[in-house]
Amino acid sequence: MSAAVSTAITPSIHRQRLRRLLLSCLCLALLQPWTSALAASPAPVAAASGMVVSAHRLASEAGVEVLRRGGNAVDAAIAVAYALAVTYPAAGNLGGGGFMTVQLADGRRDFIDFREQAPQAASADMYLDASGEPLPGRSTEGWLAVAVPGTVAGLELARERFGSRPRSELLAPAIRLAREGFALDQGDVDMLATATAAFRRDPASAAIFLHDGQPWQAGERLLQSDLARTLERIASEGGAGFYHGPVAAALVAASQAGHGILAQTDLDHYQARERKPVECDYRGYHVVSAPPPSSGGTILCEMLNVLQGYPLAALGWHSAQGVHFQIEAMRHAYVDRNNFLGDPDFVANPVARLLSPEYAARVRNAIDPAHAADSHALRAGEAPHEGSNTTHFSVIDRDGNAVALTYTLNNWFGAHVTATGTGVLMNDEMDDFAVKPGAPNLYGLVQSATNAIAPGKRPLSSMTPTIVSRDGQPVLVLGTPGGSMITTSVLQVMLNVIDYGMTVQEAVDAPRFHQQWLPPTTRLEPFALSADSRRLLEAMGQQFSNGAPANHVAAILVGGPALDRPGPPGMRYFGANDPRHGTGAALGY
Ligand code: GLY
Repeated sequence: MSAAVSTAITPSIHRQRLRRLLLSCLCLALLQPWTSALAASPAPVAAASGMVVSAHRLASEAGVEVLRRGGNAVDAAIAVAYALAVTYPAAGNLGGGGFMTVQLADGRRDFIDFREQAPQAASADMYLDASGEPLPGRSTEGWLAVAVPGTVAGLELARERFGSRPRSELLAPAIRLAREGFALDQGDVDMLATATAAFRRDPASAAIFLHDGQPWQAGERLLQSDLARTLERIASEGGAGFYHGPVAAALVAASQAGHGILAQTDLDHYQARERKPVECDYRGYHVVSAPPPSSGGTILCEMLNVLQGYPLAALGWHSAQGVHFQIEAMRHAYVDRNNFLGDPDFVANPVARLLSPEYAARVRNAIDPAHAADSHALRAGEAPHEGSNTTHFSVIDRDGNAVALTYTLNNWFGAHVTATGTGVLMNDEMDDFAVKPGAPNLYGLVQSATNAIAPGKRPLSSMTPTIVSRDGQPVLVLGTPGGSMITTSVLQVMLNVIDYGMTVQEAVDAPRFHQQWLPPTTRLEPFALSADSRRLLEAMGQQFSNGAPANHVAAILVGGPALDRPGPPGMRYFGANDPRHGTGAALGY
């Protein structure tokens, strides 16, 4: 019998412990009301009429320009996404896919799924050798790793549904940045330098992302004339300019030459989809986030439902006890993520059950307040679990329409292959499938056959573009890259704002931790735990490793720099760019 089951069958002991804990927390709260955890974060960027936070300053500028001219948040998001494809090629893309969460000022909510999907020639064992073991690198490097891209279809669908400006206007900044180039700064150069060796293996990528075979230097100008031509085609023809005609032909030819399986029929049949977002409530706030084929919204809500039962604010920010509850909520949610969720066109996702209050209570019952669970003993099918390299941006306009958009090539710079003549760098999203159920992927995620490869199937994602509202009005728009760490980062920023009263910038800056069931260790950013909190947690059986890779959260808070804290007169929007990467910017007007 698993540890989870054995802890679950002694609920009365845990209820007593928890009651004692809640009582002591209440006393603590009365004696020591919680104040902000950090004193040294800069103030968030304040603006009166609109705000864009993205991973590249020039893309944020493109979005603000659209807002200034009267475009809405969806218009601005489309301009930002195309601009990032030029200025932030590590994750901004035409050759990848993603998700857009939309909340309109009139309260309507929508979700656009433009996740990549497996080509028709894909098969469950395509990355395994004769003995059934994964072939290293096959699902992450080169054309065989490429899934059918969805970004252009998704941005077009968003524009048709909610946009108010002509397509050509929204693509104009990206075309200008590609054709005229832009001066690289140190953050851009550092990002490109991470993939120098991979670019050298692909002449079409090397021709763009290396300068005469050498890494680009700060101050030099990166021109992308092939990409400018591709963007011009999209501007004049829409999706057809990418999925049909010369761009599509170049993608297919490059794939064939590179031993990939992408075919014209895959491009012909790709469709972005509107889906119903996942929604839940947390301490009086309403959360709208990503449904399958992303796991993001489901496990974010699962963790929030569980954590709602603990007095996090009274326990204090990054207290040993508060961190313990968060780690255990994460551990349980990732059991469910990795075993039960997948493309809803192919598998049944038990979202309603995972998000029911009864299920949250059962998970809490299984969490021992004093001891870490043994990840290896937590199993799908046993109670309570029956049966770097993406980018996010957040936008809000003067009317209060909000967009959270996360899209990706999967790994930084995707599969490191570019179709000659197009400037389009391609994704390696096939690695987000369970290449071999039970074997870890790029992010160490150990997943089940629910997420096995099948033709036309969309790989399970962790992307979590999220909008949080109070009384029907958005108060927090956020998301982040980070592979499997996306959802836990979104969770912690939300907790920092809602439970711990931080400003949005403090909430983004604060060090984070990450637990994903397997491996059982929790990864810590530097300074995430004091030495004595860490000792207390280790005594409870928690295990830690250092060096969680840095995510880049992009968050906007509405109404003040912190919840219920007024900002300077006239200022409505407060943007926080994550300082963990050197290229982003929060800009408003
Ligand atoms: N490629 C990372 C994700 O979708 O979660």
